[in-house]
Amino acid sequence: MESYKSLFSPDLLKGKVAFITGGSRGGMLKEIARGYLLHGAKGVVLMSRNAEKNGEVAKDLSQYGQCLSEPGDVRKPEDCKRAVANTIKALGQIDILVNGAAGNFLASASALSINGFRTVQEIDTLGTFNVSQAVYNGYMKEHGGVIINISATLHWSGSALQVHSAAAKAAIDSMTKTLAVEWGPNKVRVVGIIPGGIEGTEGFARLSDANAMNDKEKANAAFKDGTQSNKATMEQLGKKTVALQRWGSIYDIANTALYLASPIASYVTGTNVLVDGGAVLLYPNMLFTDPKFVDMWSLGKL
Ligand code: COA
Repeated sequence: MESYKSLFSPDLLKGKVAFITGGSRGGMLKEIARGYLLHGAKGVVLMSRNAEKNGEVAKDLSQYGQCLSEPGDVRKPEDCKRAVANTIKALGQIDILVNGAAGNFLASASALSINGFRTVQEIDTLGTFNVSQAVYNGYMKEHGGVIINISATLHWSGSALQVHSAAAKAAIDSMTKTLAVEWGPNKVRVVGIIPGGIEGTEGFARLSDANAMNDKEKANAAFKDGTQSNKATMEQLGKKTVALQRWGSIYDIANTALYLASPIASYVTGTNVLVDGGAVLLYPNMLFTDPKFVDMWSLGKL
């Protein structure tokens, strides 16, 4: 894994334990875990439902510090409670929770199956609630801590082809505020990170391929084989929709997650940090960069 030169103190998270959901596909969540370990964390626990991949990522991260795998499905409250209890047993504490588990793909609202819509609500919204509640009741209620929800800008505008994810992220932002208020007196901060287009992530591959629209197999292939059909468009045109004229890196997100988890952000709660290079200011609906989408939308074919 490529490394970056951190500007934070190596002791930033000394003695802390982090619990991260959804990191088994690598990308930004794995880099957040790595960043925490490189900055003094006593341990990181990864929870996602693919036991094999979750274990592989945890094993790889063990070169940077103690990293444990707790396979489980964030949609199932019993899995969340078990993983939290096992973490407390093994490491004694959970100071930082990163709710990263999420599902997303391009699907027009008219074609999306009810189960497709429900699945994303369950992973994103219910999953964020289930894990947050388990961590709060299992540890943070007594000891305080910080909960970081990974969100999006989808619901700031009308992001076509993502009615499922936009609705889920709107609910998550609402939870960020509500839980910050309810759990603030117990010294729990609840914050969010909103990543823009982050190169090398599964989300970026899936969401930048309009040919994968309404097609589960193609959406999966877009990540596995790196086969986005419009790579050239994303490279040449896509970057122009970002104020800083570049896509984000996993380090941009990991650095934000370090800041938010650390005492530097001790007075920050109930809000999101937007890390998108200014993209939302220029182009709220990134799909308009894709000729295929513009064609289908303007002809009323969606
Ligand atoms: N387009 C349309 N519908 C899709 C779809 C796609 N690309 N992917 C899944 N669905 C639908 C399925 O068809 C199914 O509905 P159905 O029973 O009516 O056919 C429903 O969603 C559940 O899919 P399934 O594959 O059975 O569930 P799963 O739990 O194994 O995986 C997701 C669902 C959403 C997690 C997975 O498809 C996904 O998107 N993973 C990517 C994770 C990711 O990219 N995270 C970063 C987000 S930015």
